[in-house]
Amino acid sequence: MALELAEAHLRGLLSQLGLDAEYVRGSGDVLWWRTASGEEVEVVDFVGGYGSLVLGHHHPGIVARARELLDHEVPVHAQFSYHPYANDLAAALNRVLWREFDVTEPYSAIFANTGAEAVEVALKHAEMDRGARVAALREEIEAHLASAPADVAARVREHNEGRFDTPPVFLTLEGSFHGKLAGSVQLTHNAGYRVPFRALAAQARFVAGGEVAKAVEAERVTVLDVEAGRVVERDLPVVAAFFVEPVQGEGGIRVLDEAVARDIRAAADAHGFPVVVDEVQSGFGRTGAFYAASHIGLLGDYVVLAKALGGGLAKASVLLVRQSRYLPDFELLHSSTFAKDAFSCHIGTRVVELLEADGGAAYQRAAERGAALEAALRSLREEFPEVVADVRGRGLMLGLEFADQTEGTGQLAEFARQGLLGYVLSGYLLNAHRVRVFPTASASHTLRFEPSIGISDDQIAQLVTGLRAVCTALRDKDDSPFLPG
Ligand code: F0G
Repeated sequence: MALELAEAHLRGLLSQLGLDAEYVRGSGDVLWWRTASGEEVEVVDFVGGYGSLVLGHHHPGIVARARELLDHEVPVHAQFSYHPYANDLAAALNRVLWREFDVTEPYSAIFANTGAEAVEVALKHAEMDRGARVAALREEIEAHLASAPADVAARVREHNEGRFDTPPVFLTLEGSFHGKLAGSVQLTHNAGYRVPFRALAAQARFVAGGEVAKAVEAERVTVLDVEAGRVVERDLPVVAAFFVEPVQGEGGIRVLDEAVARDIRAAADAHGFPVVVDEVQSGFGRTGAFYAASHIGLLGDYVVLAKALGGGLAKASVLLVRQSRYLPDFELLHSSTFAKDAFSCHIGTRVVELLEADGGAAYQRAAERGAALEAALRSLREEFPEVVADVRGRGLMLGLEFADQTEGTGQLAEFARQGLLGYVLSGYLLNAHRVRVFPTASASHTLRFEPSIGISDDQIAQLVTGLRAVCTALRDKDDSPFLPG
């Protein structure tokens, strides 16, 4: 047998779970899996590239654009030159943002390649912004000290010494997922992913929804200043940004509460740090609006987009920063070989065109298909109240949470205790019912469903048949369907 060199350990796990299918073709919400005997098996894909495939696999409009680009030999990589196509894409993203949030302020675009990378760009930009705010405060205090009595100035300087170097803190909500690179993984709540690498980057605090103001207060560091002859305390900018997903994805499909969103916006406005809205998974229409945050009126100072920006073919991401907070010098400090390439930008623009076509029919379609899928999942909850703990989400970003299965002596309970319940059920659904689903990795009792806007009633019915079989077996405490052999 050939040497297995590409994540062989992971393949071993996939194989144990019955998930090591090799997909050889994809179209819409269908994938074809080639079995060992060479037969092609049709599978309905509810994973949707973890949210990348709002238009499905190989959408004809995207494929046609890609072919055109290749046929015309449009140069993919022409770094350090004018990129009008990047500007076109940024403008398209702006037009939708202005409409959905009813604002007119332009957002500047910094391109990157993956979701986590764009989050890292946001981290860097926010820290550069915080550095500038710290420097401005320091200068202002120094100016005041210049005209203060020498002994007072000396005392204030001694007190402030070192405080200006306080490291940044990032705030985000419990259950958040913002990526797995060195900086972004520190904003990802799952301790398994985060803790081994905590020494590498600035730390985040994970805030409970109702405790935004308290969390900001807990980070308060002050320095001294002299105003009108009196020594006063001034707040040092320590919080660099608040990162938030409008719908948490990987953390278990949880829709952001409108009141919490308001608290975050209010805290940011009061303390001068930016709100970074991470739309990597929720963006591009699947919730029924292009920007999921628009449903709750949460306007970010920064907005992060990725996944569906690539139309299922390209790998691209972008950070949008509102002009009033944008630091032009950042452009001279940050770059990437592949970012802003012509292929990805043209594809991204085509994705936006397709979503915006016919007065935004795609958003209507996402809402309508989402409602159909949600109704089907809710009927399962009614049928199996002791098995299905919750159904939640928005549009085509839905989750079904199973009741705790960790009690008991059976093999399934053992899998559940290992955090593998959702994966075992996914293996069963794939092999027995030809539907591809996955749990949210940080909440593996929850299956997530993120098909394209083209998902059909028949495909939903196929999912429901599979899930009904799962629920029946769980209700009857019958492990046998889920065990290998
Ligand atoms: N932010 C959010 C909200 C995400 O859902 C993800 C990825 C990222 C950032 C990182 O993007 O993978 O392109 O670097 N979510 C995947 C998931 C991994 O399982 O939903 P990336």
